[in-house]
Amino acid sequence: MATYIVLLGPPGVGKGTQAKILAERLAIPHISSGDLFRENIKNQTELGRLAQAYMTKGELVPDEVTIGMIRARLTMPDCKGGALLDGFPRTIRQAEALEALLAEFGGRVSCVPYLTAEPAVLVDRLSGRWTCRAQGHIFHEKYNPPQTPGICDLDGSELYQREDDKRETVENRIRVYFEQTAPLVEYYRRLGRLFEINGDQPIEAVTAALLAVVNPS
Ligand code: AP5
Repeated sequence: MATYIVLLGPPGVGKGTQAKILAERLAIPHISSGDLFRENIKNQTELGRLAQAYMTKGELVPDEVTIGMIRARLTMPDCKGGALLDGFPRTIRQAEALEALLAEFGGRVSCVPYLTAEPAVLVDRLSGRWTCRAQGHIFHEKYNPPQTPGICDLDGSELYQREDDKRETVENRIRVYFEQTAPLVEYYRRLGRLFEINGDQPIEAVTAALLAVVNPS
């Protein structure tokens, strides 16, 4: 049966960092709703223009738009064997839409690793994050620095700081997370699919804890 995994947790907890590693280990596609929106913004699509207005304020993009975008991605052939979802779902409505969509393919969310860290850790991580322009590889100036400042180790492209990593936007993103996304913790706990993992450990320790949950054999 296809493996659909939802990586849950607040902004800056390390979802993107871990999703890139796990997707490679599990040989399933990494689907990041934030990356899909940023790609649309870069390509100046209508969806990108709409999403940008919400993202720059740290607000959620409306559910119907986000669900439509993820539906389109999940119906691509490379997702037949499963996928690792990062940043989606973020509301109960999105979670219910995901269940319905996967049921159409005879699948379901099998496991929801939930990464946790205190808000002060999240702010520290987001304010030092540098992202690669070409492929979205993620670095941190203190915790995971590139060999050459400003250059991606993996593909040599320029590193930039995300527009929504400004302090006031970060604080709003964290607030929005607790108001609108945190209810998903109980939603998935009740379904028996939630696995809580301390995200405030070195990157390799978090990866090991995640692998033990998603790939227990
Ligand atoms: P999105 O791109 O999904 O951002 P996010 O959820 O806020 O998560 P981040 O990418 O900021 O953090 P992360 O957990 O991936 O951490 P990372 O690995 O980079 O969403 C952006 C926006 O898009 C939203 O605000 C919203 O507007 C919109 N959007 C997206 N999805 C949506 C949806 N479903 N519905 C509606 N709107 C949606 O790590 C952070 C930093 O910490 C990095 O520098 C990294 O190097 C470092 N780091 C990682 N792990 C560790 C560690 N263990 N120790 C030390 N440092 C670490």
